[in-house]
Amino acid sequence: MKMNIWKELTRPFLVLAPMEGVTDVVFREVICAAGRPDLLFTEFTNVSSYASEKGRANALERLEVREGEQPIIAQIWGKNPGHFAECAGALEKLGFAGVDINFGCPDKNVNKAGGGAAMIKTPELAVECLKNAMGSTRLPVSVKTRLGWSDVAEFREWLPVLLREKPSALTIHLRTKKEMSKVPAHYELIPEIIRMRDKISPDTKLVINGDIRNKAHAMELYRANTGVDGLMIGRGVFANPYCFTDYAPTKEDLMKLLNLHLDLYEKQRKKVAKYPYEPLKHFYKIYINNFSGASELRAKLMETHSVEEARAVLAEVAV
Ligand SMILES: Cc1cc2nc3c(=O)[nH]c(=O)nc-3n(C[C@H](O)[C@H](O)[C@H](O)COP(=O)(O)O)c2cc1C
Repeated sequence: MKMNIWKELTRPFLVLAPMEGVTDVVFREVICAAGRPDLLFTEFTNVSSYASEKGRANALERLEVREGEQPIIAQIWGKNPGHFAECAGALEKLGFAGVDINFGCPDKNVNKAGGGAAMIKTPELAVECLKNAMGSTRLPVSVKTRLGWSDVAEFREWLPVLLREKPSALTIHLRTKKEMSKVPAHYELIPEIIRMRDKISPDTKLVINGDIRNKAHAMELYRANTGVDGLMIGRGVFANPYCFTDYAPTKEDLMKLLNLHLDLYEKQRKKVAKYPYEPLKHFYKIYINNFSGASELRAKLMETHSVEEARAVLAEVAV
C-alpha cells in the first residue's frame, strides 16, 4: 500500500499555497531556504494541456520537482474527466506525494473553460473528475476549493458533495468566487465545517486557507479551532518569505535571499526555453522593503531588463 502523505503529517501542519506564476520550482526553493513549510504545492497544471501533444512539454515543465522538495503535491485543473485520469496517473512517477484538484480558481479564462471555481456550478462533473483522478493513481487525491460561487451559504451543499467522495484532504479558501479576495476570510464558519467533515468523512484532513499571515497567526487560528488539520499560507510569503517560521529576518537575510533567488532564476533560465525576466521583477518588493532607501532602490530595479543589470544596481548601492 502506497504511503498517504496526508496521514504522515503532524497536526497542525503548514502548507505553501499553490500560486500560479509564483510557486514554481525556483520560488519554492527560495521559500524552503527561508523556512520550510511542512508541505509544498505546485502552481496548477491544466490536465488537457498534459493530455495534448502540443501542451505536454509545457505541462511537464510546470511539473518539475527537485530533490529536497518532497513532500510536494501537484495541483491540476480542467474539466475533462478523461484528461484528469490521464494526468493524475502520470504524477507518481514524476515524484509527487499527492494530487490536488483545483475547484476554486476565480480566473475568468479558467472559469470560461469550465474549470476552477466554475466546477462549483457543475457538481456532477466535478465528482466525475475527482473519481477519475482517484481511480487512476495510487497517490492520495485532495481538493482545494472555495465556499461557493456567489453565496457563502452554498458551502452547506457544495462541501458535502466533495466530502462524500472521501478525498484525502480538503483545503478551503474561506471565501466565495464572487468575493475574490476582497472581503476577510470567513473564519467564523470553521467550526461548522469541522463538524461537517467529522460527520461525513472523518478521515479527510481539513486545511484552512485565506488571509493567514504567518506561523504565529496559523497557530492562533489552530488553537481556536483544534479540529483543523492544516493551515495554508499564500500571500503571506510576499509580506515575509520567512512566514513559515517564527524568525524575524534582518535586511541582510532578505538581501541574501534575493541573491539566492537571482542565482536560481539564472540556472532555470539556462534550462527552460521560456523563462522571461520581467515576472521576476514582481518579486523584488518581497526583499527590498521597510528600510531607508528601499523604494528608490526598487524603482531602479524595476527599470532593469536582465539579472546582470539588477546585480549591477544592487552592487552600486552595496546593500
Ligand atoms: C498570484 C496568485 C496565484 C494563485 N494561483 C493559484 C493556483 O494556481 N491554484 C490555487 O488553488 N490557488 C491559487 N491561488 C489562490 C491561493 O492558493 C490562495 O487560496 C489565496 O491566495 C488565499 O490565500 P492567502 O490569503 O493565504 O493568499 C493564487 C493566488 C495568488 C495571489
